[in-house]
Amino acid sequence: MNVLALIRERFRVALTSFAGDAGQAIDVATLLDAIRPSQDARFGDYQANCAMPLGKQLGKPPREVAAQLVERLDVADLCGPPEIAGPGFINLRLDDSWLISRLAAIAADERLGVPRPAKPRTFVLDFSSPNVAKPMHVGHIRSTVIGDALCRMLRFAGHRVISDNHLGDWGTQFGMIIYGYKHFRDDAAYQRRAVEELGRLYRLVNQLVEYHEAREQLPTAEQRIVHARENLEAAKAAPPPTQQQRQDTGKGKKGGKPEKALNRLEAQLEEAQRERGALAARIATIDSDSKLAALAREHESIGQAVLQETARLHEGDAENRRLWHEMLPYCRDEIQRIYRRLGVSFDHEHGESFYQDMLADVVAELKQRGMAVESDGAQCVFLDGFGAPMIVRKRDGAFLYATTDLATIRYRMQTFHPDAVLYVVDHRQSEHFAKLFAAARMWGYDRVELAHISFGTILGDDGRPFRTRAGDNVGLESLLDESVRRAYAVVAQNDDAKPGGPEISESRRKSVAEAVGIAALKYADLSQNRTSDYVFSFDKMLAMNGNTATYLQYSYARVQSIFAKGGVDVERLRADLPPIALSHPAERALAMQIVRLPEALDEALVDYRPNILTSYLFELGKCYSTFFENCPVLKAESDQLRASRLLLCDLTGRVLRQGLELLGIGVIDKM
Ligand code: ARG
Repeated sequence: MNVLALIRERFRVALTSFAGDAGQAIDVATLLDAIRPSQDARFGDYQANCAMPLGKQLGKPPREVAAQLVERLDVADLCGPPEIAGPGFINLRLDDSWLISRLAAIAADERLGVPRPAKPRTFVLDFSSPNVAKPMHVGHIRSTVIGDALCRMLRFAGHRVISDNHLGDWGTQFGMIIYGYKHFRDDAAYQRRAVEELGRLYRLVNQLVEYHEAREQLPTAEQRIVHARENLEAAKAAPPPTQQQRQDTGKGKKGGKPEKALNRLEAQLEEAQRERGALAARIATIDSDSKLAALAREHESIGQAVLQETARLHEGDAENRRLWHEMLPYCRDEIQRIYRRLGVSFDHEHGESFYQDMLADVVAELKQRGMAVESDGAQCVFLDGFGAPMIVRKRDGAFLYATTDLATIRYRMQTFHPDAVLYVVDHRQSEHFAKLFAAARMWGYDRVELAHISFGTILGDDGRPFRTRAGDNVGLESLLDESVRRAYAVVAQNDDAKPGGPEISESRRKSVAEAVGIAALKYADLSQNRTSDYVFSFDKMLAMNGNTATYLQYSYARVQSIFAKGGVDVERLRADLPPIALSHPAERALAMQIVRLPEALDEALVDYRPNILTSYLFELGKCYSTFFENCPVLKAESDQLRASRLLLCDLTGRVLRQGLELLGIGVIDKM
């Protein structure tokens, strides 16, 4: 049961009756939003902040409005009399007896109180979706981890969920490995370890392509520096604005130069220098290696050639198709290895190639409906509110990313009949999705919820996108390895420090480290507000204290260690369901938090934000910690109290386990 929803429902009744008597229309939904869990337990468990806006609207004192609402509010079965506080807050405090009955119900429920939805919905989740043929890198974490968590959460909430990995298996990167295969392949290596050889070919070709691009771009980058420097010097040399000018513009009131403008110009110069630095580094890597330099000279127009290989693949060239069929399984194996390690799987992996046969028909249908029109030889869909049209077929006949996405929508609608399709893709594609959704609605898919679940960038210490020192993407696998390596140190240190000496064998330590390391990485990502950028830090994500997976896994292990130490038969405890006592505020706070799982899950799913669930679990961990410090469990004063507290421990453990599982994170009994 979602208690917040229940209370809102009661308020809805009260507000509706109130509006009827007042003879005024009121915006009930907004007012219900103003009912929230209290920030401070002294003000009860829930606080309604609707009397103030309502008073304002009706021109009545809010406390009076609050009193009239309370008169109509029927909550006597769950709480004591509502209190009116301050300017007109209505505070509710659940009765302990009611809370205890909720706990008993939760203890007997394998869904831990999470109700099934009245109307289950069908969701298609499009996530991870890497471009295969190149190694996965840090940029792929967010979509993979957030998408997987949302699948798990929606499924647990009782919806039908279809996960589909929209692999990029048809793009330029295949042109690259095909070109590499034709020109640079090492047959013996390909026989032995095809995946690695393909990875090497991709990197080599990519390096050569980027080398030539960098050489082409260098002069422009130099120019940009010259300009930026000139602008900066000119601004520095300009006389400070006169008193009159300052008043006119309202700027620079504090005197001196308009600092902001100077700072901006300086930042522009720095950016230009950084860009040139990156290009120069790319060039130097090749030039400083005589073999690579020779290859670069031999393959002067490799950029064009790669595009041609891709075009040939698309046109059905027999050789390139054969190579593609041969290579694709290797590329898939490669990413599967990472998914296995991350514990992520998909119902479908319909990559871009899956839709290729449908594209001509999609464009024909759009044309027939008058949606696609020819412009400059290309087929375009013009959309209201967007400057540039959506191109669905290029002049040369080639289809685009957007065309494939339109075909994908049609296929998914026809195959799965979803109520919602969620695309977990980084924020740089927001324009693409805005257009795609507009086009889909125009096409008649206007009753399905199409949502871009956008997310920000992972940053390094320097506040710039997280890269290796050489400016390359950080490989996902090496990141996992590093996290596990550091987790091992944390686990070992913690175990060594145990009062009775280490308890975990070497091989256990390794498997615990794998679980802790991967969990830390996932949780660090999930606990961020997904739309923000965040700074990557191994130290923070593996901290034993704080909002980390490590802390929660440790809290869970602590519960298990109580059971182990007390020789508690947990199955028996669950079957007996001893009565729960809430004798200490820490017990009550813990109980309250346990009861809130459905609330947290619902709230997290409103806007598809796993961080609401992580905050909830962190709060639960803290409540448990306070409880643990204040309420002896195994040494409780009486057998009844011991049993009651053991049950609270078990409920905490179950909610932690379930909550972490919804995030794709495993628990460990002993760490
Ligand atoms: N492969 C794309 C990329 O790496 C992401 C695909 C997202 N899904 C989609 N249906 N467009 O940028």
